[in-house]
Amino acid sequence: MTNTTDPSSKKNQEALFTRPTSINPDAPQVELRDIRKDFHGTTVLHETSIEIKQGEVIAFIGPSGAGKSTLLRCVNYLETPSAGEILLGGEPVVAVADKPTRAELNALRREVGMVFQSFNLFPHLSVLRNVSLPQERVLGRSKAEADARSMELLSRVGMEHKAAARPTNCSGGQQQRIAIARALALEPSVMLFDEPTSALDPELGAEVLKVMQELAKSGMTMLVVTHEMSFARRISDRTVFMAEGRIVEQGPPEQLFGDPQHERTRRFLEVVDR
Ligand SMILES: Nc1ncnc2c1ncn2[C@@H]1O[C@H](COP(=O)(O)OP(=O)(O)O)[C@@H](O)[C@H]1O
Ligand SMILES: [Mg+2]
Repeated sequence: MTNTTDPSSKKNQEALFTRPTSINPDAPQVELRDIRKDFHGTTVLHETSIEIKQGEVIAFIGPSGAGKSTLLRCVNYLETPSAGEILLGGEPVVAVADKPTRAELNALRREVGMVFQSFNLFPHLSVLRNVSLPQERVLGRSKAEADARSMELLSRVGMEHKAAARPTNCSGGQQQRIAIARALALEPSVMLFDEPTSALDPELGAEVLKVMQELAKSGMTMLVVTHEMSFARRISDRTVFMAEGRIVEQGPPEQLFGDPQHERTRRFLEVVDR
């Protein structure tokens, strides 16, 4: 859709498949326009709009139940928004907002990778197969091509030595790094992370955060929901504070953490571990 700033990843993307070029090259890479989500008649995400530029790293913080996961899940239609529009590179991701087609969802999921708190790796497959299989199924790569790309990505996340192992023989931090490699294997242009370290001991979480930091440096566009305030502060270009289903305020992390404008933000920052 849009080129990334990392020349090597651009080359890889172009070599493997062609994306539709965006209509408007100046358009934000990701745009939420008045996205709302209701569950059983209750609005958990009120009309929310946000624009994210290519290569931008956005950290979403806020209390539990604020709607952070819901917002993230709407971006790739794991939740169908009740209203509003998601655009990638200036183009709506689905033609009819509340009725995405299977083809639209497949195209969207290829473009937007997601990493969850739980790693969801296949326990009966080797680490290598876990990373290769989606490439064969979704991108139509041959096994040899997929395995070669998998090994590159596993080495990028420091996991090539475990290629033949089962995920169950890897630590939680290792499994999460494998899950990141698996998501990257589909050559997404945007990565979503929903509290990727919250199930991990701090030490194992640190390994994952390091990989994410590298990814951010490589120019990947990232939307990261995190409870790690120091991480949000360090890697985000912009931190977004959410509460009660709304974006309360957003800004460069030094501003949001150093000089929050809203009482709700201050109250949250006072009680969290910074
Ligand atoms: N599938 C669902 N069905 C009903 N309610 C949900 C569902 N998913 C989330 N919610 C509710 O939406 C609100 C926002 O949840 P969530 O987006 O998970 O918040 P956060 O990630 O900020 O903790 C919560 O009140 C939660 O209970
Ligand atoms: Mg959540």
